[in-house]
Amino acid sequence: MTSSKKRILTGIRPTGPLHLGHYAGALENWLRLQEEYECFFLIADYQVSDYADDIDLVRKAVFEVALDWLAVGLDPERSHFHIESLIPEHAELTLWLSWYVPLARLQRNPTLKAEMESFETKSVPVAFFTYPVMQVANILMPKAHLVPVGEDQLPHIEMTREVARRFNRLFGEVFPEPEALVGRVPRLVGLDGNAKMSKSLKNAIYLKDDAETVTKKVKRMFTDPTRIHATDPGHVEGNPVFMYHDAFNPNEAEVQDLKERYVKGTVGDVEVKEKLALALNAFLDPIRERRAHYEARPKLVREALAAGTSHAKKVAEGTMAEVRAALRLNYLE
Ligand code: TRP
Repeated sequence: MTSSKKRILTGIRPTGPLHLGHYAGALENWLRLQEEYECFFLIADYQVSDYADDIDLVRKAVFEVALDWLAVGLDPERSHFHIESLIPEHAELTLWLSWYVPLARLQRNPTLKAEMESFETKSVPVAFFTYPVMQVANILMPKAHLVPVGEDQLPHIEMTREVARRFNRLFGEVFPEPEALVGRVPRLVGLDGNAKMSKSLKNAIYLKDDAETVTKKVKRMFTDPTRIHATDPGHVEGNPVFMYHDAFNPNEAEVQDLKERYVKGTVGDVEVKEKLALALNAFLDPIRERRAHYEARPKLVREALAAGTSHAKKVAEGTMAEVRAALRLNYLE
């Protein structure tokens, strides 16, 4: 089953259910590109920093992620859903590639810097420096041409390009230099107005939230803080409620009308939020339906992961054979 299509590799760490930020920043592109590319969708369990704290949580999250993928319409018949640690070639390639990444390069990586802040300097695990290299290995493993991701991942993709160039120069042309592709909404604001929707900030709407939960979350959402009464002229720019309308309400005329009335002070936050909750629930309904279908059939989820992992493992073995040949590890032949 080798395909002549160009390849995508992208992935997510199994840390919990996926939210609207994942959808608008990345998943939407994955869905769109499934026809055109052969897609490798990776569940990166080697790269979860709190693994030892709660193995059960990671195990659960592996299935949560797969369920969310199926729910949004990613198709395991066409795309390969795979689990990283079941393909130890990723670890082997990481080790070789780590010789070609200067430590200073990693220390400058802004995404990494932000993540390390939760650790005392003295207790930052070495894995914080190896996991971005592992991400490089993930992408190079199927020789991906395109990596659709959220904006925060761009420094890692840039590093992937550098490592591919360096490896090819030293050992011969093995890897293509992949391009990054960021979604329609590169960084979705949180419900609380924080620059980023994220699980750890507790400001997310999950793809699996039921209608009532979504409506409640929208009611409590951060809006224009300068507006006290519904008759005060309001601000649309930078207002999370309108950012979500722009991102998820397909009824442009309704959004335009709400914005005009908001600025004039002739519509209250209550109505703007009610309409947003309706739009979000209409968007999430088909996702919820597909999720329920697979939730009731866990065997299908396991089979999707097993088939994808088995295919990705074969591809990885092929690449590693080339890498070993390029590095001339055939000592005993
Ligand atoms: N680091 C990514 C995240 O935190 C997950 C990931 C692992 C990834 N390997 C990848 C993304 C390869 C793109 C390509 O979500």
